[in-house]
Parts: sequence; structure tokens; C-alpha cells
Amino acid sequence: MKLDVNRDRLSAEIEELASISDAVPPAVTRIVFTPTDLKARGWLVSLCEKAGLSVRQDAIGNIFARWTGFESHAPAVGTGSHIDAIPNAGKYDGVVGVLGGLEAIRSLQASGFHPKHSIELLVFTSEEPTRFGIGCLGSRLLSGTLSADAARKLADKEGTLLEDVRRKAGCNGRLEEVKVPSGYYKAFVELHIEQGPVLEQQKVPLGIVTSIAAPASLSISIEGAGGHAGGVLMPGRRDALCAAAELILAIENEARSSGALDTVATVGICEVFPGAVNSIPSRVHLSVDIRDTNLERRDAVMQMMAGAGDAIAGRRQVEIRKEVLNADAPAQCVPAIVEALSASCKKHQLNFVPMVSRAYHDSLFMSSVAPVAMLFIPCRNGYSHRPDEYASPEDIGRGVLVLAETLASLAA
Ligand code: GLV
Ligand code: MN
Ligand code: MN
Repeated sequence: MKLDVNRDRLSAEIEELASISDAVPPAVTRIVFTPTDLKARGWLVSLCEKAGLSVRQDAIGNIFARWTGFESHAPAVGTGSHIDAIPNAGKYDGVVGVLGGLEAIRSLQASGFHPKHSIELLVFTSEEPTRFGIGCLGSRLLSGTLSADAARKLADKEGTLLEDVRRKAGCNGRLEEVKVPSGYYKAFVELHIEQGPVLEQQKVPLGIVTSIAAPASLSISIEGAGGHAGGVLMPGRRDALCAAAELILAIENEARSSGALDTVATVGICEVFPGAVNSIPSRVHLSVDIRDTNLERRDAVMQMMAGAGDAIAGRRQVEIRKEVLNADAPAQCVPAIVEALSASCKKHQLNFVPMVSRAYHDSLFMSSVAPVAMLFIPCRNGYSHRPDEYASPEDIGRGVLVLAETLASLAA
């Protein structure tokens, strides 16, 4: 089997997908189920059909493009990622796993390989939490991590229910039917940019992921008292933003002092009401993201944060309410898939390092229904979730080559 990855075609497709965006280039914004996202999905489906894959979509909009194996009922080998992009993102997050997965399949087809197990390219709905506040919607439902009932309650900032949005986007089936039956997948392998600097710093072209850190996110609302910025004297104030400022620093301090570099905490959203220079903030909304490779340590930070919140609320006479949006366990990659990836790297004489994924991915949830592993390629300066995110065609090509080789060994 002689594998040839068509890097020029893949680069051109990455550029074309980046042009389907709601941001000024080079930034990319593609929020789930917006007209832009639907246009990108349509474009992608036509590419998959052109490659001879049979395409179906489930009730949450996950796309499955299948190259049917000669044992068509045997469990499939899955690969893929997402094409939604946070506001002001780059071109490569998720996209490398989707278009790279398609290119891997096309290179296998061109090599004359015939899979015994079907190879299925997945495009997961809303890996990014931008619109509905929770990431990996598609893979959570597909793996049964999120119930159909809980999904039906999700709404965007405008109050529009996911249920209505997805139906308007043409996804009409029952959410109960999204979960795949056990044994549907023999394996799942996701190609992704690293989103950190390790591979670039170590000058290694590939990373094989052995575990994925445990993410949690919370929505916090702080209710104080508003008033005139001149008229209300300092002793009588119950300023919600000052309470939020203390809480943000307490969260940072708790993550810094966990005793491990693997603990990270971020307050990525701070909305202030009413948001006028001469009005005391009466209400603040914070979105908090806490992650660790170790579940106990991650949960300890969440508990300490709750304690800090109680103390601040008492001292500043404000009300602090918190809602945990998700608190997921870490995932371990399966040795057999890690081994298949390592063997593929060795076959092509490509150097690799084992690594931890600190970002979450759909593979985190796929791990509860399939043996998974991930393959990372470097991205310049480790930048991701920003317009200057960049992965070179050479690095992407190496990732696709190893992915194709791995899919072939798993599907043989
Ligand atoms: C995924 O985009 C993440 O935030 O890890
Ligand atoms: Mn992302
Ligand atoms: Mn991603």
C-alpha cells in the first residue's frame, strides 16, 4: 500500500472552509446552526459525497460519512472532529481532524486499500460551547453522556431552545436516537492541532495523546445593589463587580496553589449590568472553566472556589449563585490504539512523543463508547482560538499520513 497525501488539495480545502465564516479574514467565526455553519456543513457533505462516502446526519446534526467495508456489519473505525469555531478563531482547530480525516480516507482509496471494517468520518455538532454554554454537544449525546431531556432544556443567549434551532436546521429526528449502540465503533482516532507549544518547543512533528484532562465549567451570577456612582457613598455599597473581582482572583489563586501545573482555571466571560460608567454594578455574570488531569484536584479547586464565594458574599453583602454546567471525568486513551498510532509513526520514520491533551475534544466523550486515542500536530507558537492560529501543510500532511496508516491497520 503506497499512501500519498494530497497536501495541496487539503490546503486549498482548509482555505475554502475558512472563507465560510462570519469574521473578517484571517479570523474565522462559525457558530453552530447559524446560516454560515449550515453553509459549511453543506459544502463538506458535498466533498464527502464526491469521495463516494455515504452520508447521514443524526438528530443533533452530527454528520457521519461512511466508506463501507467489505464486512459491512462489523464495528466501524471512526475518525473526525468539528468544524464549528469560536468567535475570532483560526482555521485549523477541529478542521484539521475533519478535512484531514477525509484526506486520509481519499489517500487510502487511491492506494487501492479495501477496508474490512467500515471507516466513518464524523463531524461533531458544536464542540465549542459558544452558543449553548456546553461544549461537545454532539459527542455528549452520541455517547449518552448528556441525556435527550437535558439537551432539550438548553437555550442560547437569546433564549432560543436548542430543540427549535436544530429542527430549523433540518435535524428532525428524536434526540433519544442519537446515542450509538454499544459496539458500533471498533475504535475512534481524532487528529487535532496541539493548541499548546510542546511539540514546537521539542521540535517533534507528532504527539500521541495518552489522556485527556478533565474539564468543568460553571456559570456564576453575583447580585449586589446598583445606584448612582456619585450619590452612594463607599461604606453603603454592595458592588457586584468588586465582589466578582475578588472571586476571580480567588479562583486564580486556588488554581495556582493546587500544587500541580496541570491545574488551570480561567474566567473567560465577565458581564456587568447595567454597564454604565456612572452606575454601580448591580449584577455580574461570570463563566468559569477549570481543568486538571487529576479529577480529585480539579474538584478540590471547585470546592475551594465555593468556599471563597461564600466568604466574599458574607463580607460584601452580595448574593452569589453558581450553576455547574459540566464537570467531566478525564479520559484515558486505549493502549491498543496508542500502539497502532506509534507503529504508524515508526513505519514512516516519524518521531513522536506521548502527551496529555489539556484541551477537551470530542474524543473525551467518544471514550465512553469506543476505544480512543488522539494524534496531535504542532501549531505555531502553540496559538489556538485566535486568528493567527497556524499549522503548516507539512505538519498537517504528516498527521494525515499517520492517521491514514492507523485507520488502515485498525480497519484491516
Ligand atoms: C475546546 O475547544 C476546549 O476549550 O478545550
Ligand atoms: Mn476549540
Ligand atoms: Mn477543537
